[in-house]
Amino acid sequence: MEKIAETEALLLERIAQLDQPRDILKAVEIKQLYARLPSLDPSERGAYGKRINDLKHTLEQAVASIETEKDQAASVPIDVTAPFDVNGSLPSLLATERGTIHPLTREIARLRGIFARMGFVSEESREIDDQFHMFETLNFPAGHPARDDYDTFMTLQRDKDGEPFVAPAHTSTMQHRILLKYHANLEAGEPIAAVVPDRVFRNEDLDARHEHTFYQVEGVYVARDVHAGMLIATLQKFLEEYYGKSLNVRVNPFYFPFTEPSFEFALSCPFCEGKNPDCKVCSGEGWIELLGCGMIHPNVLRAAGIDPEVYTGFAFGCGIDRLVMMKYGIEDVRHLESGKLDFLRQF
Ligand code: PHE
Repeated sequence: MEKIAETEALLLERIAQLDQPRDILKAVEIKQLYARLPSLDPSERGAYGKRINDLKHTLEQAVASIETEKDQAASVPIDVTAPFDVNGSLPSLLATERGTIHPLTREIARLRGIFARMGFVSEESREIDDQFHMFETLNFPAGHPARDDYDTFMTLQRDKDGEPFVAPAHTSTMQHRILLKYHANLEAGEPIAAVVPDRVFRNEDLDARHEHTFYQVEGVYVARDVHAGMLIATLQKFLEEYYGKSLNVRVNPFYFPFTEPSFEFALSCPFCEGKNPDCKVCSGEGWIELLGCGMIHPNVLRAAGIDPEVYTGFAFGCGIDRLVMMKYGIEDVRHLESGKLDFLRQF
Protein backbone atom coordinates (compact mmCIF):
# COMPACT_ATOMS: atom_id res chain seq x y z
CA MET A 1 0.00 0.00 0.00
CA GLU A 2 2.82 2.37 0.83
CA LYS A 3 4.40 1.62 -2.50
CA ILE A 4 1.14 2.55 -4.24
CA ALA A 5 0.93 5.86 -2.39
CA GLU A 6 4.54 6.60 -3.32
CA THR A 7 3.87 5.77 -6.97
CA GLU A 8 0.78 7.98 -6.96
CA ALA A 9 2.75 11.00 -5.72
CA LEU A 10 5.50 10.33 -8.22
CA LEU A 11 3.14 10.04 -11.19
CA LEU A 12 1.09 13.12 -10.25
CA GLU A 13 4.28 15.09 -10.26
CA ARG A 14 5.38 13.66 -13.59
CA ILE A 15 2.14 14.54 -15.44
CA ALA A 16 3.08 18.20 -15.50
CA GLN A 17 6.23 17.45 -17.49
CA LEU A 18 4.56 15.40 -20.20
CA ASP A 19 3.67 16.76 -23.64
CA GLN A 20 0.78 14.33 -23.72
CA PRO A 21 -0.53 14.14 -20.11
CA ARG A 22 -2.61 11.13 -21.12
CA ASP A 23 0.59 9.04 -21.49
CA ILE A 24 0.81 8.89 -17.69
CA LEU A 25 -1.95 6.25 -17.74
CA LYS A 26 0.45 3.90 -19.53
CA ALA A 27 3.33 4.47 -17.06
CA VAL A 28 5.45 1.44 -16.42
CA GLU A 29 5.12 1.96 -12.62
CA ILE A 30 1.45 1.02 -12.82
CA LYS A 31 2.27 -2.23 -14.57
CA GLN A 32 4.88 -2.92 -11.91
CA LEU A 33 2.27 -2.47 -9.18
CA TYR A 34 0.00 -4.97 -10.93
CA ALA A 35 2.92 -7.36 -11.30
CA ARG A 36 3.18 -7.68 -7.51
CA LEU A 37 -0.40 -8.91 -7.21
CA PRO A 38 0.29 -12.69 -7.56
CA SER A 39 2.89 -12.56 -4.76
CA LEU A 40 0.38 -11.22 -2.25
CA ASP A 41 -1.66 -13.18 0.19
CA PRO A 42 -5.05 -13.86 -1.46
CA SER A 43 -6.82 -12.10 1.42
CA GLU A 44 -4.93 -8.89 0.63
CA ARG A 45 -5.34 -8.94 -3.15
CA GLY A 46 -8.85 -7.36 -3.21
CA ALA A 47 -7.85 -4.27 -1.22
CA TYR A 48 -4.59 -3.96 -3.15
CA GLY A 49 -6.30 -4.14 -6.56
CA LYS A 50 -8.91 -1.62 -5.49
CA ARG A 51 -6.20 0.79 -4.35
CA ILE A 52 -4.51 0.59 -7.78
CA ASN A 53 -7.85 1.34 -9.42
CA ASP A 54 -8.22 4.38 -7.17
CA LEU A 55 -4.77 5.49 -8.25
CA LYS A 56 -5.73 5.19 -11.92
CA HIS A 57 -8.93 7.13 -11.27
CA THR A 58 -6.98 9.92 -9.55
CA LEU A 59 -4.59 10.09 -12.48
CA GLU A 60 -7.42 10.23 -14.99
CA GLN A 61 -9.02 13.16 -13.21
CA ALA A 62 -5.71 14.97 -13.13
CA VAL A 63 -5.24 14.36 -16.86
CA ALA A 64 -8.77 15.59 -17.64
CA SER A 65 -8.32 18.81 -15.74
CA ILE A 66 -4.98 19.56 -17.43
CA GLU A 67 -6.53 18.87 -20.86
CA THR A 68 -9.44 21.23 -20.20
CA GLU A 69 -7.05 23.93 -19.11
CA LYS A 70 -4.98 23.50 -22.26
CA ASP A 71 -8.10 23.62 -24.49
CA GLN A 72 -9.24 26.83 -22.92
CA ALA A 73 -5.85 28.43 -23.29
CA ALA A 74 -5.66 27.41 -26.95
CA SER A 75 -9.12 28.62 -28.02
CA VAL A 76 -9.44 32.17 -29.40
CA PRO A 77 -12.30 34.03 -27.81
CA ILE A 78 -14.96 35.30 -30.23
CA ASP A 79 -15.15 39.09 -30.30
CA VAL A 80 -18.78 39.75 -31.02
CA THR A 81 -18.09 43.45 -31.41
CA ALA A 82 -15.45 42.99 -34.15
CA PRO A 83 -16.32 44.32 -37.64
CA PHE A 84 -18.04 41.78 -39.82
CA ASP A 85 -15.82 39.91 -42.27
CA VAL A 86 -12.54 41.55 -41.35
CA ASN A 87 -10.65 39.27 -43.73
CA GLY A 88 -12.35 40.92 -46.68
CA SER A 89 -13.73 37.83 -48.36
CA LEU A 90 -16.96 39.75 -49.06
CA PRO A 91 -17.21 43.03 -50.99
CA SER A 92 -16.03 45.85 -48.77
CA LEU A 93 -19.48 47.44 -48.67
CA LEU A 94 -20.86 44.45 -46.75
CA ALA A 95 -17.76 44.14 -44.67
CA THR A 96 -17.43 47.57 -43.20
CA GLU A 97 -20.40 49.81 -43.92
CA ARG A 98 -23.74 50.28 -42.36
CA GLY A 99 -26.73 51.65 -44.24
CA THR A 100 -27.75 55.22 -43.56
CA ILE A 101 -31.00 57.08 -43.79
CA HIS A 102 -31.57 58.58 -47.24
CA PRO A 103 -30.92 62.34 -47.15
CA LEU A 104 -34.47 63.12 -48.33
CA THR A 105 -36.03 60.94 -45.64
CA ARG A 106 -33.88 62.60 -43.01
CA GLU A 107 -34.68 66.11 -44.24
CA ILE A 108 -38.41 65.32 -44.35
CA ALA A 109 -38.26 64.18 -40.73
CA ARG A 110 -36.47 67.44 -39.90
CA LEU A 111 -39.01 69.67 -41.59
CA ARG A 112 -41.91 67.73 -40.07
CA GLY A 113 -40.32 68.46 -36.71
CA ILE A 114 -40.07 72.18 -37.42
CA PHE A 115 -43.71 72.38 -38.49
CA ALA A 116 -44.78 70.29 -35.50
CA ARG A 117 -43.17 72.86 -33.22
CA MET A 118 -45.17 75.54 -35.06
CA GLY A 119 -48.40 73.62 -34.36
CA PHE A 120 -48.94 71.81 -37.68
CA VAL A 121 -50.01 68.17 -37.73
CA SER A 122 -48.43 66.02 -40.41
CA GLU A 123 -50.36 63.98 -42.98
CA GLU A 124 -49.40 61.68 -45.86
CA SER A 125 -50.38 61.98 -49.50
CA ARG A 126 -51.06 59.13 -51.97
CA GLU A 127 -49.20 57.68 -54.91
CA ILE A 128 -52.34 57.30 -57.03
CA ASP A 129 -55.18 59.78 -56.80
CA ASP A 130 -58.22 60.91 -58.75
CA GLN A 131 -58.84 64.02 -60.82
CA PHE A 132 -61.45 65.17 -58.35
CA HIS A 133 -58.67 65.81 -55.80
CA MET A 134 -56.01 66.73 -58.36
CA PHE A 135 -58.20 69.41 -60.02
CA GLU A 136 -61.93 69.72 -59.20
CA THR A 137 -61.67 70.44 -55.48
CA LEU A 138 -58.92 72.94 -56.28
CA ASN A 139 -61.12 75.10 -58.45
CA PHE A 140 -59.87 73.87 -61.83
CA PRO A 141 -63.16 73.19 -63.65
CA ALA A 142 -63.09 70.54 -66.41
CA GLY A 143 -61.23 71.90 -69.43
CA HIS A 144 -59.47 74.61 -67.41
CA PRO A 145 -56.24 75.45 -69.28
CA ALA A 146 -54.15 75.47 -66.07
CA ARG A 147 -54.69 71.70 -65.84
CA ASP A 148 -52.07 71.41 -68.56
CA ASP A 149 -49.45 73.16 -66.44
CA TYR A 150 -49.17 70.15 -64.22
CA ASP A 151 -47.77 67.58 -66.70
CA THR A 152 -49.81 64.96 -64.91
CA PHE A 153 -49.19 61.26 -65.48
CA MET A 154 -52.49 59.52 -66.22
CA THR A 155 -53.07 55.83 -65.63
CA LEU A 156 -55.10 53.40 -67.76
CA GLN A 157 -57.49 52.74 -64.88
CA ARG A 158 -60.57 54.92 -64.69
CA ASP A 159 -62.56 56.06 -61.66
CA LYS A 160 -66.35 55.91 -61.28
CA ASP A 161 -66.75 59.10 -63.35
CA GLY A 162 -64.78 57.52 -66.18
CA GLU A 163 -61.77 59.77 -65.55
CA PRO A 164 -58.28 58.23 -65.53
CA PHE A 165 -56.64 57.98 -62.11
CA VAL A 166 -53.50 60.12 -61.89
CA ALA A 167 -50.11 60.08 -60.21
CA PRO A 168 -50.47 63.23 -58.09
CA ALA A 169 -48.47 66.12 -59.57
CA HIS A 170 -48.63 68.17 -56.38
CA THR A 171 -49.43 67.64 -52.73
CA SER A 172 -52.36 70.07 -53.07
CA THR A 173 -54.44 66.93 -53.80
CA MET A 174 -54.62 66.69 -50.00
CA GLN A 175 -56.04 70.16 -49.35
CA HIS A 176 -59.71 69.14 -49.65
CA ARG A 177 -59.16 66.05 -47.49
CA ILE A 178 -57.46 68.11 -44.78
CA LEU A 179 -60.24 70.69 -44.76
CA LEU A 180 -62.80 67.90 -44.32
CA LYS A 181 -60.81 65.93 -41.76
CA TYR A 182 -60.11 68.86 -39.44
CA HIS A 183 -63.37 70.74 -40.04
CA ALA A 184 -64.40 70.27 -36.40
CA ASN A 185 -61.35 72.24 -35.23
CA LEU A 186 -62.99 75.43 -36.48
CA GLU A 187 -66.19 74.96 -34.48
CA ALA A 188 -64.00 74.26 -31.45
CA GLY A 189 -62.26 77.62 -31.99
CA GLU A 190 -59.03 75.91 -33.11
CA PRO A 191 -57.30 76.48 -36.45
CA ILE A 192 -56.87 73.84 -39.12
CA ALA A 193 -53.08 73.51 -39.36
CA ALA A 194 -51.57 70.64 -41.31
CA VAL A 195 -48.56 69.87 -43.50
CA VAL A 196 -48.20 67.06 -46.05
CA PRO A 197 -44.63 66.23 -47.01
CA ASP A 198 -44.79 63.55 -49.71
CA ARG A 199 -43.88 62.34 -53.16
CA VAL A 200 -45.24 63.81 -56.39
CA PHE A 201 -44.78 63.01 -60.07
CA ARG A 202 -44.62 65.03 -63.27
CA ASN A 203 -44.11 64.10 -66.88
CA GLU A 204 -41.26 66.54 -67.43
CA ASP A 205 -38.11 66.73 -69.48
CA LEU A 206 -35.35 65.83 -67.06
CA ASP A 207 -32.38 68.04 -66.36
CA ALA A 208 -30.29 69.17 -63.39
CA ARG A 209 -33.32 71.00 -61.97
CA HIS A 210 -36.17 68.70 -63.01
CA GLU A 211 -36.93 65.17 -61.96
CA HIS A 212 -40.10 63.18 -62.75
CA THR A 213 -40.36 62.08 -59.11
CA PHE A 214 -39.81 64.60 -56.38
CA TYR A 215 -41.12 65.80 -53.03
CA GLN A 216 -43.26 68.67 -51.89
CA VAL A 217 -44.52 69.82 -48.55
CA GLU A 218 -48.04 71.21 -48.61
CA GLY A 219 -49.22 73.48 -45.84
CA VAL A 220 -52.82 74.37 -45.02
CA TYR A 221 -53.87 76.83 -42.35
CA VAL A 222 -57.47 78.02 -41.79
CA ALA A 223 -58.96 80.06 -38.95
CA ARG A 224 -60.74 83.37 -38.43
CA ASP A 225 -58.93 86.50 -39.64
CA VAL A 226 -56.02 84.78 -41.37
CA HIS A 227 -54.16 87.14 -43.69
CA ALA A 228 -51.25 87.07 -46.16
CA GLY A 229 -48.83 88.53 -43.61
CA MET A 230 -49.29 85.36 -41.53
CA LEU A 231 -48.50 83.23 -44.57
CA ILE A 232 -45.28 85.08 -45.26
CA ALA A 233 -44.22 85.10 -41.61
CA THR A 234 -44.90 81.36 -41.30
CA LEU A 235 -42.80 80.52 -44.36
CA GLN A 236 -40.02 82.86 -43.37
CA LYS A 237 -39.88 81.36 -39.88
CA PHE A 238 -39.86 77.85 -41.28
CA LEU A 239 -37.01 78.63 -43.69
CA GLU A 240 -34.99 80.30 -40.97
CA GLU A 241 -35.36 77.26 -38.76
CA TYR A 242 -34.52 74.93 -41.59
CA TYR A 243 -31.38 76.75 -42.70
CA GLY A 244 -30.39 77.92 -39.24
CA LYS A 245 -29.96 81.52 -40.35
CA SER A 246 -32.11 84.40 -41.46
CA LEU A 247 -32.48 84.80 -45.21
CA ASN A 248 -34.17 87.33 -47.41
CA VAL A 249 -37.39 86.35 -49.10
CA ARG A 250 -38.91 87.84 -52.22
CA VAL A 251 -42.63 87.56 -52.83
CA ASN A 252 -44.00 88.01 -56.36
CA PRO A 253 -47.60 87.85 -57.56
CA PHE A 254 -48.48 84.62 -59.34
CA TYR A 255 -51.49 82.61 -60.44
CA PHE A 256 -52.94 79.39 -59.09
CA PRO A 257 -56.64 78.55 -59.50
CA PHE A 258 -56.87 77.46 -55.86
CA THR A 259 -55.40 80.53 -54.17
CA GLU A 260 -56.32 84.20 -54.48
CA PRO A 261 -54.13 86.17 -54.28
CA SER A 262 -51.32 83.81 -55.22
CA PHE A 263 -47.60 84.30 -54.79
CA GLU A 264 -44.34 82.88 -55.83
CA PHE A 265 -41.83 82.82 -53.08
CA ALA A 266 -38.10 83.15 -53.69
CA LEU A 267 -35.34 82.85 -51.17
CA SER A 268 -31.93 84.50 -51.19
CA CYS A 269 -29.52 81.70 -52.01
CA PRO A 270 -28.59 80.04 -48.70
CA PHE A 271 -25.50 78.59 -50.32
CA CYS A 272 -23.74 81.69 -51.66
CA GLU A 273 -26.04 84.32 -50.10
CA GLY A 274 -25.98 86.13 -53.41
CA LYS A 275 -22.24 86.66 -53.29
CA ASN A 276 -20.95 84.17 -55.87
CA PRO A 277 -21.62 84.95 -59.56
CA ASP A 278 -20.58 81.35 -60.37
CA CYS A 279 -22.75 79.71 -57.69
CA LYS A 280 -23.85 76.30 -58.98
CA VAL A 281 -26.96 76.35 -56.80
CA CYS A 282 -28.56 79.66 -57.88
CA SER A 283 -26.60 80.08 -61.15
CA GLY A 284 -25.31 83.37 -59.78
CA GLU A 285 -28.78 84.92 -59.58
CA GLY A 286 -28.72 85.11 -55.80
CA TRP A 287 -32.39 84.05 -55.62
CA ILE A 288 -34.13 80.70 -55.93
CA GLU A 289 -37.80 80.18 -56.70
CA LEU A 290 -38.85 77.84 -53.98
CA LEU A 291 -42.56 77.59 -53.65
CA GLY A 292 -46.04 78.63 -54.63
CA CYS A 293 -48.53 79.87 -52.07
CA GLY A 294 -51.49 82.11 -51.48
CA MET A 295 -54.74 82.71 -49.66
CA ILE A 296 -57.05 79.71 -50.11
CA HIS A 297 -59.67 80.48 -52.80
CA PRO A 298 -63.22 80.83 -51.41
CA ASN A 299 -64.38 78.08 -53.80
CA VAL A 300 -61.93 75.61 -52.23
CA LEU A 301 -63.21 76.42 -48.73
CA ARG A 302 -66.83 76.21 -49.90
CA ALA A 303 -66.24 72.79 -51.53
CA ALA A 304 -65.27 71.53 -48.07
CA GLY A 305 -68.29 73.13 -46.38
CA ILE A 306 -66.35 76.02 -44.82
CA ASP A 307 -67.94 79.47 -45.00
CA PRO A 308 -65.39 81.85 -46.60
CA GLU A 309 -67.22 84.81 -45.03
CA VAL A 310 -66.26 83.50 -41.59
CA TYR A 311 -62.98 81.72 -42.13
CA THR A 312 -59.95 82.44 -44.27
CA GLY A 313 -56.76 80.53 -44.75
CA PHE A 314 -53.47 80.17 -46.53
CA ALA A 315 -51.79 77.30 -48.35
CA PHE A 316 -48.33 76.70 -49.69
CA GLY A 317 -46.54 74.02 -51.64
CA CYS A 318 -42.79 73.89 -51.31
CA GLY A 319 -40.37 71.73 -53.30
CA ILE A 320 -38.42 69.66 -50.80
CA ASP A 321 -35.70 68.54 -53.23
CA ARG A 322 -34.84 72.17 -53.89
CA LEU A 323 -34.78 72.93 -50.22
CA VAL A 324 -32.32 70.10 -49.66
CA MET A 325 -30.23 70.96 -52.73
CA MET A 326 -29.78 74.50 -51.48
CA LYS A 327 -28.87 73.36 -48.02
CA TYR A 328 -26.06 71.10 -49.16
CA GLY A 329 -25.08 72.69 -52.46
CA ILE A 330 -26.23 69.70 -54.55
CA GLU A 331 -25.91 70.71 -58.19
CA ASP A 332 -28.16 68.08 -59.79
CA VAL A 333 -31.59 67.07 -58.47
CA ARG A 334 -31.31 63.69 -60.19
CA HIS A 335 -28.65 62.56 -57.69
CA LEU A 336 -31.34 62.33 -55.05
CA GLU A 337 -33.29 59.55 -56.79
CA SER A 338 -30.29 57.93 -58.45
CA GLY A 339 -29.26 55.46 -55.76
CA LYS A 340 -25.64 56.42 -56.40
CA LEU A 341 -23.65 55.29 -53.38
CA ASP A 342 -20.82 57.75 -53.89
CA PHE A 343 -23.39 60.52 -53.57
CA LEU A 344 -25.35 59.00 -50.70
CA ARG A 345 -22.25 58.20 -48.63
CA GLN A 346 -21.67 61.92 -48.13
CA PHE A 347 -24.75 62.20 -45.91
N1 PHE B 1 -49.50 73.03 -55.80
C1 PHE B 1 -48.76 74.15 -56.31
C2 PHE B 1 -47.68 73.63 -57.26
O1 PHE B 1 -47.28 72.50 -57.12
C3 PHE B 1 -48.13 74.97 -55.24
C4 PHE B 1 -49.14 75.61 -54.33
C5 PHE B 1 -49.61 74.95 -53.19
C6 PHE B 1 -49.61 76.87 -54.60
C7 PHE B 1 -50.53 75.57 -52.36
C8 PHE B 1 -50.53 77.49 -53.79
C9 PHE B 1 -50.98 76.85 -52.67
O2 PHE B 1 -47.25 74.32 -58.14
